[in-house]
Amino acid sequence: MRNVFNFNPGPAILPEPVLESTSKAILNFANTGMSIMEVSHRSKDFDALLIETEALLTEILNIPENYKVLFLQGGASLQFAMIPMNLLLSGKTADYIDTGNFSKNAIKEAVKLGTVNIAASTKDDKYTRVPEQGELKLTPDAAYCHITSNNTIEGSQYKAFPATGSVPLVADMSSDILSKPLDVSKFGIIYAGAQKNMGPAGVTIVIIRKDLADLCPDNVPGILQYSTHIKNNSCFNTCPVTSIFVVHEVMKWLKDMGGLKEMEKINEKKAAMVYDALDSSGGFYKGGVQKACRSLMNVTFRLPSEELEEAFVSQAGKKNLKGLKGHRSVGGIRASIYNAFPVEGVQALTDFMADFMKANR
Ligand SMILES: Cc1ncc(COP(=O)(O)O)c(C=O)c1O
Repeated sequence: MRNVFNFNPGPAILPEPVLESTSKAILNFANTGMSIMEVSHRSKDFDALLIETEALLTEILNIPENYKVLFLQGGASLQFAMIPMNLLLSGKTADYIDTGNFSKNAIKEAVKLGTVNIAASTKDDKYTRVPEQGELKLTPDAAYCHITSNNTIEGSQYKAFPATGSVPLVADMSSDILSKPLDVSKFGIIYAGAQKNMGPAGVTIVIIRKDLADLCPDNVPGILQYSTHIKNNSCFNTCPVTSIFVVHEVMKWLKDMGGLKEMEKINEKKAAMVYDALDSSGGFYKGGVQKACRSLMNVTFRLPSEELEEAFVSQAGKKNLKGLKGHRSVGGIRASIYNAFPVEGVQALTDFMADFMKANR
């Protein structure tokens, strides 16, 4: 058992049983006598693992048959470019909803590749919320509408997804995929870098409605076309074998935990513990995000001064509460409490918060 509580935003904490089974597979994968790092991505043992990983994810998320799960590289950031390359056809407009740093990064890539309409932005509110349906200025026949379901840096999250009619909804779910039940059929594409709720860095999961993959213009390089990866079952080139192994183990763990409904209950409980600590602190700890949009995954807050914030992070670190510093672009404190983060760790944090407040108020 480790004695550190890891609040890192990503790469992030992984479940203990996953680390144990991975450490075994590092030495000997599936009784092959070879490490998972040494086996071919085209070997029968790995192929079986890849099929099972997709099946587990499909079962846990209840993914309909007209979707394909892909295991790609390049992070969520490559998807910022691949999505417009594949879907933003000439003469079309893509709607983007700007809710923070990673939405902005997605928009930066899309505007290089086609026409973009910012359907809504909460920038003027310092990204302390996500927009409501009534605020959206959607393009009726848009190629797609892109959202960031959970804003990892700012600490906000959609509680209900935008309704976009027949326009495919495309969601960057890097920091909240698998944290609660999800109706995949409402989306055209869901994508997520694995390194928060699914596994280590190095693999990006893309869940794509198959008909959308046929739209890509021929002049897009093959490796950047979704159809290439669908045809080759994620093995067009060497796939991230070891990272996919870990995703497989995380899926097994998630199933053992009771699946997404159970996960949601635990995540709600953990988040409520930290938000209660903020709300009952008489303003010492201030959460900037509007209550209706508070993230279950990344809880962000400020202290009365930057000096106190520095002291908070440093003293928490000495108590083995690691990774609490807010993102460099916004400062403050961020507690990332993904699926694998234990309730005891949240309790240790709220105990520390109470002690720190008593000593410094
Ligand atoms: C919501 C979101 N989108 C995109 C990214 C970028 O992901 P990657 O580093 O995998 O490209 C991150 C990384 O933290 C993120 O949290």
